[in-house]
Amino acid sequence: MTLEQLESLARTHGTPLVVVDHDVIRRNYATFRAHLPKAQCYYAVKANPEPAIVRTLYRLGASFDVASMPEFMMVYENIRHLSPREQQDFIWDKIIYANPIKPKETLQALDQYKPLVTYDNRAELEKIARYAPHAGLVLRLRVPNTGSMVELSSKFGCDPGEAVDLIAAAFRMGLVVEGVSFHVGSQCTNFENFVQALNIAAAVMQEARTRGYEIQILDIGGGFPAPYNLHVKPFEELARKINAELDRLFAPEVQILAEPGRFLVATAATAVARVIGKAVRDGKKCYYIDDSVYHTFSGIIFDHCPYHLKAFKSGKTEICAVFGQTCDALDTISLAEELPDLEIEDLVYAENIGAYSSASSTWFNGFPPAKVVHVNE
Ligand SMILES: Cc1ncc(COP(=O)(O)O)c(C=O)c1O
Repeated sequence: MTLEQLESLARTHGTPLVVVDHDVIRRNYATFRAHLPKAQCYYAVKANPEPAIVRTLYRLGASFDVASMPEFMMVYENIRHLSPREQQDFIWDKIIYANPIKPKETLQALDQYKPLVTYDNRAELEKIARYAPHAGLVLRLRVPNTGSMVELSSKFGCDPGEAVDLIAAAFRMGLVVEGVSFHVGSQCTNFENFVQALNIAAAVMQEARTRGYEIQILDIGGGFPAPYNLHVKPFEELARKINAELDRLFAPEVQILAEPGRFLVATAATAVARVIGKAVRDGKKCYYIDDSVYHTFSGIIFDHCPYHLKAFKSGKTEICAVFGQTCDALDTISLAEELPDLEIEDLVYAENIGAYSSASSTWFNGFPPAKVVHVNE
């Protein structure tokens, strides 16, 4: 999309605005599939749950990782027109409920659909046995998240040393463990995390086999990094490493799943905001825009992801601060942006803001989330 198109959309729809380009989603999906051909691609809906994004990926033949019942239903909307038998096949083949902790009501609701669900502890196993005995199980392993932008291993994943006992416990309860999974942490730029995780998973599957449990599925999770800056090594390089380890460590009949979120959608969205205030504090220019860290820029807080603002107008730039529209001082988008001299009503934009951004937007201070428009759907 050109800057002229972006500016014209902002003039038409007003600000704050998020523009999602579905051509970019299709391109990212094609790249993922081309470089990791063995992996079935489950889009992690949490990264951006816009129904139009789910629809585009559904049309491309993607599978889905959901983390809540509303996310499950969002995918289900796309298969409502199918026969009950086709729906059931789709859910079994193409949906994983990958939140290791689930309330009993969710398990009760999920049971009729017989999906794959993850677990990582005994209490969860007991709940699944009681409320969703028809689900297929995937055991989530704790693996190194060193250097990933968002660390997940302190919250989820069983110790690899307990893994086979947890698999055995599930079978003893009459459940079926179909696979093991891991997550190396989101925006994983340390590719060794994947290498180590694959080796841990291979060792667990080998031990399970010697104890009589054949595990069919390996789910390599998410974490595939978006190219936010030039320091992020290319996805192709990561894929080469993963493919080499998959070939070396796993039998060809093991089914490989992956759950990319950020990689598919981060580069597909651009936020456009308007300057609504301007001040000079301690000699530094401060701009106030009509979006905030409680809205589209929420990833600054929740996702530890810095976003950079650019101006549509050109001119000599200087270091300035950019704040959001709310009354909270935490609502600081950046203390060091490089922008030309801006006037109130000028527009600014932030690229690569499609993942974990509008997804965690709130209504704080009464400001609604930014309008989202979709192009090239
Ligand atoms: C279980 C699970 N799978 C996949 C993802 C998506 O990760 P990413 O956006 O880093 O690809 C997440 C993100 O938190 C997750 O928790």
